[in-house]
Amino acid sequence: MTKPEPIRFQGYSKRDQPAEDAELTHVGPHTACGEYLRRYWQPVAMAHEVGELPLAIRILGENLVLFRDLSGNLGLLHRHCAHRGASLEYGIVMDCGIKCCYHGWHYDVDGTIIDLPSEPANSPIRKKVVQGAYPTHEYAGVVFAYMGPPELQPEFPIYDTMLLPDTEAKPFSLSIPCNWLQVYENTQDPIHVIHLHARSSGVQFGEASGVEQLIDYRNTPLGMINIQTRRCGEHLWTRTTDTIFPNCNQTGAIWEEAESQKLFQRVSMLRWMVPIDDTHTVTIGWRYFNDKLDPRGQDQPDMVGKETIDFMGQTEGRTYEDRQRHPGDYEAQVSQRPIAIHALENRATSDRGVARLRKLLRENIRAHEKDNLAPQPQNSSAGYVSTYCQDTVYPVASGGDDETELMKNYGQRVSDSVLESDALSHAEREAAMAKLCAEFDQ
Ligand code: FES
Ligand SMILES: [Fe+2]
Repeated sequence: MTKPEPIRFQGYSKRDQPAEDAELTHVGPHTACGEYLRRYWQPVAMAHEVGELPLAIRILGENLVLFRDLSGNLGLLHRHCAHRGASLEYGIVMDCGIKCCYHGWHYDVDGTIIDLPSEPANSPIRKKVVQGAYPTHEYAGVVFAYMGPPELQPEFPIYDTMLLPDTEAKPFSLSIPCNWLQVYENTQDPIHVIHLHARSSGVQFGEASGVEQLIDYRNTPLGMINIQTRRCGEHLWTRTTDTIFPNCNQTGAIWEEAESQKLFQRVSMLRWMVPIDDTHTVTIGWRYFNDKLDPRGQDQPDMVGKETIDFMGQTEGRTYEDRQRHPGDYEAQVSQRPIAIHALENRATSDRGVARLRKLLRENIRAHEKDNLAPQPQNSSAGYVSTYCQDTVYPVASGGDDETELMKNYGQRVSDSVLESDALSHAEREAAMAKLCAEFDQ
C-alpha cells in the first residue's frame, strides 16, 4: 500500500500534550468527579489490614487514618491531628477512639473530643474542635466509608451477588499507579480480552476468551453492560459484564471455556476502582469461588489478598522483562500515562463501550453538580439490589450463512432476559434463562 506523503514521520508535529479530561479524572475535594464519587459508599481497605496499629490510607486525595479501637469500633479520621497536625498513624488506639501521640488529644471514632489531658476542664476547645471523621461500614471482610455530605448518607447497598449460596468470598486489594478511569473503563473494553489476554503474548485466561466475539452494549438501571457472544463448538456463550456507577464492576468466570451448559451463572468478582488520588487507584472487592465458576480447578483462593490475586497481570510483582514479554492489564493501563489524555486518542468502533461509559459518567457527574443528583442502588423488599452480570452457555445449532444474525439475535435475547428478570429471585432468573434458551433452540 502506498502511504500518503504528508502523514509519514510526523513525530515533530505530534509532540504536544493537551490537558487531561479533568471533569472525569480529577477526584480531590471540590472537583466535579470527586464530589460525585463521594456520594457513594466506597471500599477503603480489607478488614484484616486493620490490626492493632492505625493504618494510614489515602482515598480521593485525602490523607486518612483507619483504626479499630479496643471496643471493636472502626474509626476513619483525617490523618493530621486537629491540634497541631501530627499524624494519627502514630496515635495510640484506646478503649474508645484514638489518642494523638504528640500532646495526647483523644478523639472518638466520630471525631469528637473525648479528652484534652493538659487543658483546663472547662476549655471551650472541647465543644468547638472536632477531628474530621467519616462513617464506616464493614461487610464480609471489607471496610467501606462514606465521604460525602453527612445529611445525604445513603443506605449501604447489598448486591445480589454478595448473597450467593455455596460461594466463598475472598477480599482483595490491588493498587495501580494511574488514574481510576483507565482502570474502570477497561471493564467496558471487551475487545482487549481477545488481544491482550489471548493473542498478544499467548492465552492468559481461558482459551475461549480468544474467540472473536460479537459485542453489543446496553444501559441498565445501575449503569451499563457489554454483551459478548461467542461460538464455542456446539455452544453459544453470552457473557454480560456489569458497570455499576459510579465505580463498581462485576465480571464472569475467569477461566470460562464454554464447554458445557450454564444458565445465568454469576460472577467471579465484584470490585470497586477507588481513586487514591488523581494518579493512583486501588481496586478493592471480593473474588468469588464455587464449583460452577471453576469446573477445572484453576482458581487459587490462597493467592487472593493484599496486592495479590490468582490471575496474571494485575500487579507490578513481576520482572520488567516478564512484563514486557507477557503484558497484562496492569502494564496496559499504567502505560496509558498517569492520567490518559482523551484528546490524544483515536477512538474507533471497538471503543463504543468506553465511549458510552464516559458519556454516562459525564452525564451523572453533571447531574450531580447541577442538581445534586446521585441516584443510589436501592435494596429491594427482599433486601438486595439485582445486578446484570452473568454467563449463559447453551448448545445452539449453527446458523450456517446466517450465523452472525443468529448470534446477534441470541445475545440480544439473553440480554433481554438478564434485564427483564431483575425483579425475580436468582432461581427464577435462572429458570427464565432456561426457558428462553429452550425456546431459542426451537
Ligand atoms: S498534634 Fe495531636 S495532640 Fe498535639
Ligand atoms: Fe483485562
